[in-house]
Amino acid sequence: MNNFEPLIAVFSCHYCSYAAADLAGSSRIQYPPNTRIIKVPCTGRISVNHILRALECGADGVYVAGCLEGTCHFVSGNFKAKQRVQSAKSLLGEINIEPERVQMYFMSAAEGSKFANVAKEMTETIKELGPSPLKGTNTQ
Ligand code: FES
Repeated sequence: MNNFEPLIAVFSCHYCSYAAADLAGSSRIQYPPNTRIIKVPCTGRISVNHILRALECGADGVYVAGCLEGTCHFVSGNFKAKQRVQSAKSLLGEINIEPERVQMYFMSAAEGSKFANVAKEMTETIKELGPSPLKGTNTQ
């Protein structure tokens, strides 16, 4: 039996996934308590460094949750985030760390159940992978 409870950092866009998380909460939709949400004005603000630092500082997994494609309030922030998530995955792969630890999701503010399902999916994925080898490597 796997008793490992992962810590998952979520970079969540103010306009969509953060509101979706709120909706999930107010609708009493259950999802695992493993996520720690960091609200950002747009996922375009997230850099590869933010993602890797989250892993170094204790997260076992990280995902970025932005507006649906074509609906970013800053036009292309979510596309930039998608590219940066892909770059972070490539860097992790180069040092033999599972790229699945980092993901990008798109959702609207009305998708509280999707927010909960993504949290469940990520929690299960990271539970299967086990603790991140990068955990606790932050020396600053
Ligand atoms: Fe939501 Fe850009 S405003 S991802």
